[in-house]
Amino acid sequence: MGVARKAPAASEVSVRIDGADVSIAANGTVLDAARAAGRRVPTLCHSERLEPHGACRTCLVEESGGKLVAACHTPVADGQSYTTRSARLTRLRRNTVELIVSDHPLECLTCSANGRCDLQTLAQEVGLRESRYESPRVHTPPRDDSHPFIKLDMEKCIGCGKCVRACDETQASFVLGMAGRGYDAKVIAGADTGLEEADCASCGQCVLECPVAAMEEPGTRLHGTPDATVTTTCGYCAVGCALDVHTKDGAVVVIEPNADGSANRGHACVKGRFAHQYTRSGDRLRSPLVRQADDTFRAASWDEALGLIAAEFARVRDTHGPMAFGAISSSRCTNEENFLMQKFARVVMRTNTVDNCSRVCHSPSAYALRNALGTGAGTNSFQCVETSDLLMIVGANPTEAHPVFGARIRRAALAGAKLIVLDPRNIELARLADVHLPLRPGSNVAVINAMQHVLIHEALVDAEFIAAHAEAYDALRAELAEYTPEWAAPISGVDPDAIREAARMYGGASCAQILWGLGVTEAGHGSNAAFGLINMAVMTGNMGREGAGASPIRGQNNVQGASDVGALPHVVSDYRPIGDAATRAAHREAWGVDLPAADGLRIPDMLDAAHSRRLKAMYIMAEDIAQSDPHVAHVIGALERLEFLAVQEIFMTPTAELADVVLPGAAFLEKDGSFVNSDRRIQRVRRAVDPPGEALADGDI
Ligand code: SF4
Ligand code: SF4
Ligand code: SF4
Ligand code: FES
Repeated sequence: MGVARKAPAASEVSVRIDGADVSIAANGTVLDAARAAGRRVPTLCHSERLEPHGACRTCLVEESGGKLVAACHTPVADGQSYTTRSARLTRLRRNTVELIVSDHPLECLTCSANGRCDLQTLAQEVGLRESRYESPRVHTPPRDDSHPFIKLDMEKCIGCGKCVRACDETQASFVLGMAGRGYDAKVIAGADTGLEEADCASCGQCVLECPVAAMEEPGTRLHGTPDATVTTTCGYCAVGCALDVHTKDGAVVVIEPNADGSANRGHACVKGRFAHQYTRSGDRLRSPLVRQADDTFRAASWDEALGLIAAEFARVRDTHGPMAFGAISSSRCTNEENFLMQKFARVVMRTNTVDNCSRVCHSPSAYALRNALGTGAGTNSFQCVETSDLLMIVGANPTEAHPVFGARIRRAALAGAKLIVLDPRNIELARLADVHLPLRPGSNVAVINAMQHVLIHEALVDAEFIAAHAEAYDALRAELAEYTPEWAAPISGVDPDAIREAARMYGGASCAQILWGLGVTEAGHGSNAAFGLINMAVMTGNMGREGAGASPIRGQNNVQGASDVGALPHVVSDYRPIGDAATRAAHREAWGVDLPAADGLRIPDMLDAAHSRRLKAMYIMAEDIAQSDPHVAHVIGALERLEFLAVQEIFMTPTAELADVVLPGAAFLEKDGSFVNSDRRIQRVRRAVDPPGEALADGDI
C-alpha cells in the first residue's frame, strides 16, 4: 500500500555531479545528490513527502558512459558520476513534456495554477512552445465539483499519481485511485462516486501535491494569485502544524502546510487548511461594546471601555479585597498573552486567582506526570510513533481531534506497529486495532489496574528498570494483587481474556508508547487513570527511549503553553509554586512587587465563589465557559451573579453575552507570538492578516 517505515540510519557515499564531488547518505537517490550539489533537476511526479515513484521521466540524468536513469528513484552508486545538464537531456526532457502537453489543455492564462504550475515551468525550461503531436484529446471527463473545498478537473490531469500517493502515504485514507488506461486514465474518488461521497477527510494533501490544476481548491480561482505569504502555527489543535498563509489584498486566499514544519512535515487537516473564512465573517466583533441600562450593547471607544473596566476592577479590589477578582486566561491565546494575563492578575489585582482551561481537560495528566516523572508533560515527540512497535491509545480519537497526528498513528499501524485501543466508541483506530477494549465510560481505572495486574503476575515487567528507576514498586504490586481481569470485567463490561490479551501484547512489546486523551482526564478519577498508565510504562521499562513512553494528547493549540507560563492559580511560570518564598523573592526582584502567597481559586472554585457572591468581578479572555464548561447552568448562574464581567472575544459568544464590557480580540491568523504544542515545541505565531475594525490582538488589549 506504499506505506514505509522509517529507514535505518545510513552511512555516506561520494558521487560526482556535473564535475563536483558531493557526499550523501548511502540510501539516497541521484536526485538527492543533485540537490546536495545545488543542481536543479526537473521533476513532475516526485515529492519529498512521498516514496519515489518514477512515472514521468522528466528527471532523466546521464550516468558516466551515457546511460540514462530517472534521478528521483535511482539509488546513488558510490563513486559514480552523473550529468544533469546537456543538450541531449534537454531534448529528451522536451520530448517527454511535449507528450504530456499533447493531452493537456493549453489554457494557462485562465488556469488557477498559472504562474505556479510545475508543467508550465518545465515547458518554459525546456523551450517548449507548442506540441508537434496532433492532440488525441477526444475525451472530456466531467469535472467533479461535488466537494466544498476540492475540485477535480481530470481534463488537466497528467497522470502522475501524486494525489493518489499523497492520500495513501501521507494521509493514509486510501480514498483515491487511478482508473482507465492511456488517454482515458483518470483519478477517481472511492468507487468513482465523486469526492464528496467518498470517505474523504478533506485534508487537501492531494491538492497540495498536484503539479497542475487538476486538483484545485477554489481560493485562487475566486480571489486571484496571492501577493504575500506568512508562515505561522495553526490555532486549532495541539498538534501545532506550521502553515503557510497565502494572502491577497490583506485577506486569506489559501492556507497550505509548511513543508518544514517540525510537527506536521508538510501535512495539515481540514481545519488548519480550509477553516479560515471565519476571519472575514460579518459576525466578528469590531469595536468595544458596553452594556446599557436596557441590557443591550452599544459600541464604545477603547478609552471608554478600558476606563470602565479599570474603574470597576479597582473598585472591587479596593472595596472587597483581591480575592473578589478572578481571571480566566486562554489556551487559544499565545504564551505572551497568557503571561500578561497572569501577571495582570498577580501584580495589578494582587491575586493568584487566574486559571486556564487545562483545568477542565488535562490538569489530571499534568498532575500525574509531575508527581510520577518530575515534570508535567508527556515523554515523547510526535515522530516517536514511527519507532514504537506498539501504540496504546486510551480515551482519545486522534484521527478526528488531532488529524495530522492521527494520520501518523494510522500510518504506523499500517506499517506494522501493534495497536491497542481502550475506548467505549468504535472509533476509526479501534477498527484498525489488534485489540480494542470497548470499556464502559468511567471504568478506565478498573481496566488499567487489571492490565497492570496481568503485567506483574505474568512477570511481563522489567525488573532491572524497576530496580534502577522506580520507587514503591512492592507497595504497588501488593495494591494491585486483587485487581484481576475478572474483577474488572463486571465494572468495565470488557471480557477478562481481552484485558489479558491487551496486557500481554503490551508487555511483549519492545518499544511501547501510551497516548491518552480527554476520555481519561475528563472522567472521574482522571489522575488515577493517568498514574496507572504511567506506572504501566515504568514497570515495563518503556521509558527514556525513543518510541517508548507515556504522553497525553493535549487538546487546544496552546494548553501546554498557557500552563507553562503560569496562567494557573498555584504556580507561576515554569510551574514554580507561588507558595515558595524563593519564587516570590525572584518575582519581587524582577517585577518590584510582593506577590500574594496564597494559592488562588481554580475555575470551578471561582464559579462557586461567584455563586456565593465572594467573587464579584471577572476578566475572561477568549474562553466561552458559558458554552463549553461542564454544567453550563451553574456557569451561567455564576456569571450572572457577578457585579462586573469583562470578556475579550472574537465573536459574541454566550459568555460574552453575559458581560458588562466586551472587548474585540484577534484570531490566531491576526496576531504575533508563540504557542507550545502537545509535544512541547515552542513555535512562532505570525500575523498574516489584520484584525477587523477596531479589534486588537489580545496581548495589546
Ligand atoms: S483531501 Fe485528503 S483524504 Fe481527501 S482525497 Fe485528498 S488526500 Fe485523500
Ligand atoms: S490529479 Fe494531479 S496529482 Fe493526481 S494524477 Fe492528475 S495531475 Fe497527478
Ligand atoms: S492537525 Fe491540528 S494543528 Fe494541524 S492543521 Fe489540523 S487542527 Fe491545525
Ligand atoms: S520525477 Fe522522476 S520520474 Fe517523475
